[in-house]
Amino acid sequence: MMPSDETPASYRAALSGRRVLVTGCAGFIGSHVAQALLEAQVDVVGVDCFNDNYARREKLDNLRHLTSWERFEFTPIDLARGALAEVVHECDLVLHLAAEPGVRTSWGSRYEQYLRNNVLATQHLLEALRATPETRMVYASSSSVYGDTDLRPTPEAASLRPRSPYGQTKVAMEHLCELYSANFGVDTVGLRYFTVYGPRQRPDMAFYRICRAVLTDLEFVVFGDGRQTRDFTFVDDIVAATLAAATAKVSEDRIFNIGGGSPASLREAIEIVAHLAERTPAIRYEDSERGDVRDTAADTTRAQNVLGFTPSTSLSDGLAAELHWLSGRLTSNPV
Ligand SMILES: NC(=O)c1ccc[n+]([C@@H]2O[C@H](COP(=O)([O-])OP(=O)(O)OC[C@H]3O[C@@H](n4cnc5c(N)ncnc54)[C@H](O)[C@@H]3O)[C@@H](O)[C@H]2O)c1
Repeated sequence: MMPSDETPASYRAALSGRRVLVTGCAGFIGSHVAQALLEAQVDVVGVDCFNDNYARREKLDNLRHLTSWERFEFTPIDLARGALAEVVHECDLVLHLAAEPGVRTSWGSRYEQYLRNNVLATQHLLEALRATPETRMVYASSSSVYGDTDLRPTPEAASLRPRSPYGQTKVAMEHLCELYSANFGVDTVGLRYFTVYGPRQRPDMAFYRICRAVLTDLEFVVFGDGRQTRDFTFVDDIVAATLAAATAKVSEDRIFNIGGGSPASLREAIEIVAHLAERTPAIRYEDSERGDVRDTAADTTRAQNVLGFTPSTSLSDGLAAELHWLSGRLTSNPV
């Protein structure tokens, strides 16, 4: 296949000849990042363990976008358990997107999974990287590290007061990366993604559920009054930021907010989807869930200055892409 015209020439040149380890490659974001690399003619070693946070079938579908490439090699390892030295040392860049995501399920007995897949898995990767500290590891953190803050747009220097066990494990992950950088010189760059959406979005996420509600007769459950706002970020913008972070010259500030640039409320998003689909979903309101924050907005000045990151997809265009994708998916795989 030919290189994609959508992959900026600068990344293509900087990544050319590299062999990149993408963890969580069967997931929503990991599969897009790996696909963008393959389209840029970069060799990719993908790792995933098909964690049970959603159906394996969905992850296998994501993986199918990668397996047709000869440059792609899949290694089914659980990062919290498996031997990583070999797979890490044969690569010269690590994009660490594997994790146990999601705020609501992080209470109770599932917390153990969050510790394993977010904290322990990251520590195992960092240990493996001690032998080749110059190998950069770009890792996915989250806006959830901030919790509820009055400082919006929120800069990276804001206090970290997560409101969920998930956010707490993301803070722990960032701290581990800082520790391995300070003590062993491991080259880590953290990206605090703000609510990511687009084709292949996780089925537990709000936009997937809104799109499914307008495409089927299923109800959309809103947790809270629907006036909560999020800095929604289209997955292509996340890919661009992640690839920029893979090659950018980064000095002491090694953590970046990555946001879509136009915060909107859930109600506004529902209206956009209803307009695009020409159909209003049935909505049921329930109490907001513990751990959910009220509003998020990213100050992306640092990412703009250091990574050259500017989000380029409007909420309406991004939602149209997700709706189109889910419509095709539901036609071939009805719920
Ligand atoms: N989606 C968002 O809105 C969002 C926002 C902020 C941060 N993030 C972060 O981005 C990253 C990707 O999220 P996503 O939405 O694509 O989630 P996802 O669940 O779709 O993808 C994560 C993948 O990691 C794999 N995985 C989990 N634990 C593993 C382990 N121990 N070993 C190997 N593979 C493992 C899972 O099987 C899954 O395929 C995560 O770090 C998440 O916390 C996502």
